[in-house]
Amino acid sequence: MRATRVISVTSGKGGVGKTNVVTNLAYLLSKAGKKVFVLDADIGLANIDVLLGLAPEYNLQHVFNGEKTIEDIIVEGPGGMKILPASSGVQELSELTQDQKLYLLSEFGSLTEDIDIFLIDTGAGISSNVMYFNMAAQERIVVVTPEPTSITDAYAIMKVMSKKHSINDFKLVLNQVKDEREAEALFANLSSVAERFLNISMESIGYIIEDKHVPQSVRSQQLVSVLYPEAKASMCYVKIAQNILEHEPSALPDGNIGFFWENLLDNTT
Ligand SMILES: Nc1ncnc2c1ncn2[C@@H]1O[C@H](COP(=O)(O)OP(=O)(O)OP(=O)(O)O)[C@@H](O)[C@H]1O
Ligand SMILES: [Mg+2]
Repeated sequence: MRATRVISVTSGKGGVGKTNVVTNLAYLLSKAGKKVFVLDADIGLANIDVLLGLAPEYNLQHVFNGEKTIEDIIVEGPGGMKILPASSGVQELSELTQDQKLYLLSEFGSLTEDIDIFLIDTGAGISSNVMYFNMAAQERIVVVTPEPTSITDAYAIMKVMSKKHSINDFKLVLNQVKDEREAEALFANLSSVAERFLNISMESIGYIIEDKHVPQSVRSQQLVSVLYPEAKASMCYVKIAQNILEHEPSALPDGNIGFFWENLLDNTT
């Protein structure tokens, strides 16, 4: 069984670019030869399938109902990434009986082979669903933009995770910045406040330039990395993907994707 990196992508405020981060990174990491799975755990409206122009027929809900197996609901996206459509179904995680949880664990167990990187689009905010996924992941990426509301909400979500759930390390992606200087200033601003008032450590894993090619690609339901690989934003995604590949956590236990599911279902009780 291969060791899997489980990385959640989250934010305080909605609409700051999480789904674009998840999908573009999943594409680039797949192209780099990694086996990438994406879990669409956002119960909001802007979903991965819409962004990619896919229309999955089934989701996690059908697995709960016993109508489909986990293998049946997986769809393939650009670059060979595998997508686990969960948006409807995630809400029900906390309402499962013990038997249903065990059944789900064995279903997830059938997936354990061959995943190098498991990326989770958690949705925004401090709802319990977002928290479950962030708690069960091993690495957490917080997406933030220079907008004051995005900054205060990013701060708020890290504060809740730290104070309530003892999660104290975060990787930051600074999105929709004008240039590297703005990204650095944004990171300095966040980390100085957070490190002074909260006992957390933050690391920047890169920035993404505000680039009109992103909304253009969203409108045509394709990834900017596919449609405009030379665009500024696409180059930024490449650097972040490289950073992720270069910073493999030192100790990944074998079969830890199993622990991830167990953690997730434990946390939802
Ligand atoms: N680097 C960027 N440059 C320009 N526009 C961007 C950039 N990143 C994201 N956007 C725009 O922001 C919008 C929201 O992005 P996205 O759907 O990825 O955010 P989200 O955080 O997943 O939102 P939600 O919280 O609703 O799920 C997109 O439609 C896109 O056009
Ligand atoms: Mg989204």
